[in-house]
Amino acid sequence: MRVIRVTDHAEVSALAAELLAKFIAEHDEVVLALPTGGTPLGMYNELVTLARTGALDLGRATVFNLDEYVGLPSDHSQSYASYMRRHLYDRAEFDPTKLHIPDGNAEDLVAACASYEGRIAEAGGLDIAVLGIGANGHIAFNEPGCGLNSRVRVVRLSDRTVLDNARFFDDPRAVPRHAITMGVGTIRSSRALMMLASGEGKAAAVAAALEGPVTTRCPASAIQLHPSAVVILDEEAASALRVRPWSKEEFLADPHAPQFLFL
Ligand code: PGA
Repeated sequence: MRVIRVTDHAEVSALAAELLAKFIAEHDEVVLALPTGGTPLGMYNELVTLARTGALDLGRATVFNLDEYVGLPSDHSQSYASYMRRHLYDRAEFDPTKLHIPDGNAEDLVAACASYEGRIAEAGGLDIAVLGIGANGHIAFNEPGCGLNSRVRVVRLSDRTVLDNARFFDDPRAVPRHAITMGVGTIRSSRALMMLASGEGKAAAVAAALEGPVTTRCPASAIQLHPSAVVILDEEAASALRVRPWSKEEFLADPHAPQFLFL
């Protein structure tokens, strides 16, 4: 696990986009898992800029979203399908047949989960899963208490997560209480992981995830078990760590560092 500390959210976003773009450029086919939320917005802006300048071909990317709310129409402004269109898919040249998101409106949600897990397998598995981390230590919508080998399934959101996400909704009472999420096991099966965090509100969760015990109390702690993970933090998010992270310069200059990209 490589933990890299940069100054601020803009630098987190730029480095994440740089590493992803490099990976995409070096491979004909790439299968990504991508997150939603506030953290990846800067990375998406950077990716769009790289694509518009011709430095990045996003049409080669197969993308599976980490999660989606249950019961929110896909054209609702806060559905993750809308989020992805607004912040990424409508702003660059993607192949629409390669973009996947769980169907939170399926009549049979259990079948929708199995189908999503199956589609990931059919695509050859995930190459890189990009992750945020919740203030309660969740990854995707895997809340504290969930199994570290869990697969795609319907979950109930914690009160903390509902509260955190209410900031995106006009009516906070409209935040769904359930979601379909990739499981921690699904995420751990990705060949590489890239976790991003910024802001002091994430410092305790980041320290628990990276330096605490591997425990269901902090699903993000499963990242410690992954053979090929990189974590990009800004100064505030890294502020509770006891082990000194790498600087960006040290990471980029290290001849072994690109290993995380593949393995
Ligand atoms: P955020 O959410 O990026 O909006 O902070 C991260 C997460 O909940 O995984």
